[in-house]
Amino acid sequence: MMVSVSYWCLWCVLVLADSVHTWSNSLNMYWPEFLGGNRRGYEEFGARIVGGIDATILEAPYQVSVQEEGYHFCGGAVITAVHILTATHCTEEKDASVLEIRAGSTFKDYGGVLVKVQMIIEHPYFDTDSVDFDVSILKLAQPLNFTDFIKPIPLAEPWDEWPPGTFGLITGWGVTKEGLPSSAPRNLQAVYLQITNLADCVFVYGAEKLTDRMMCVWYQDGGRDSCQGDSGGPFQVNGVLVGIVSWGSGCARAGVPGIYTKVSTVRDFIDQALQY
Ligand SMILES: *[C@@H]1O[C@H](CO)[C@@H](O)[C@H](O)[C@H]1NC(C)=O
Repeated sequence: MMVSVSYWCLWCVLVLADSVHTWSNSLNMYWPEFLGGNRRGYEEFGARIVGGIDATILEAPYQVSVQEEGYHFCGGAVITAVHILTATHCTEEKDASVLEIRAGSTFKDYGGVLVKVQMIIEHPYFDTDSVDFDVSILKLAQPLNFTDFIKPIPLAEPWDEWPPGTFGLITGWGVTKEGLPSSAPRNLQAVYLQITNLADCVFVYGAEKLTDRMMCVWYQDGGRDSCQGDSGGPFQVNGVLVGIVSWGSGCARAGVPGIYTKVSTVRDFIDQALQY
């Protein structure tokens, strides 16, 4: 059976053959050659990020929009005045010269500041097929000035662990309905999700797909999730950056977690990248 596994980057798509579960077919998980959207979203709550609500940048002042030629395609998080944390699947095969970030705005298309990217630093072990080590750093051409609207977020430490059931906040401008690029919001969306236990995640994806760099996050009943265009964005627990939106099977399906890069396991890479 085929399960489409999709990056949450607006235009990155990955379709993998999989023998694990079959419900994806019936849920129309295939997206043809995406130029946009995807990742869950049933309209339960008037869906946003999928199932989220309008947020303001004051509630997530570390959130940035990563853009190419004026178009939002991924999220990111301010970690220093000149460094943005995002996902390698967002930056791979891109030239720093075409990228910029918008910081300090609730809206992806105006307000705040636009700052050019000077350098992309990707995890050397990133693997396109497994999406392992999905973390990268954007070095900005100009430092951000911190205000109430633009603030860095502290990173999870290597020894940090969170028990299953822990709630965290996910924010972004990704699509609010799986497979529907036109559902991409202008206003930042936010939703609370929970870290799953490992067994629930292994049940869905299979142990062979999950590496130590990955963590699983969901709203168990579905209807709330990150989705295409949220990739690279922050999952925070108590004001600490714990996860980076990475990939998943569809968006907001009941019982199907999204996969996030576990920041605590890639701190050595991040700390080195911050030397640049
Ligand atoms: C930060 O403030 C300085 C001084 O006002 C200004 O020149 C610079 O453009 C600002 N940087 C950004 C990224 O907004």
